[in-house]
Amino acid sequence: MVFKWTQALSVGVDQIDDQHKELFARVNKLMDAIKSNSDKNVTAEVMEFLEKYVEVHFALEETYMERYDYYEEEKIVHEKEHEIFRQNFAELKKEFVKSGASKSFNQKLQDHVCSWLLNHISKVDTKLGQFL
Ligand SMILES: [Fe+2]
Repeated sequence: MVFKWTQALSVGVDQIDDQHKELFARVNKLMDAIKSNSDKNVTAEVMEFLEKYVEVHFALEETYMERYDYYEEEKIVHEKEHEIFRQNFAELKKEFVKSGASKSFNQKLQDHVCSWLLNHISKVDTKLGQFL
């Protein structure tokens, strides 16, 4: 699976786009750490960074929604998606701490992090971008 930021994913707000690019870079770093079977600590470190970075990033988008008075319904949908990501990520982290990287862990990482991000950015974030 190619996990790459492309212009098609641009939200049109540099600050958000830059953070998305950084997210892609970090997720790739995480996948590399897992693939190359590097030290569990390295993977844990990248996961920890990613978890914090996502928090900062979601907060930025949520600030934009507040500041520019985004449609209430869209805001609720958007924030709910962020919440789902947080829950999925917390689950993954728990699984990793308990059992380390495994086939099922990798699959979930693909589904709940990579695919989720691509889907969320291309549908929900770009929608917000059009409004801003
Ligand atoms: Fe978002």
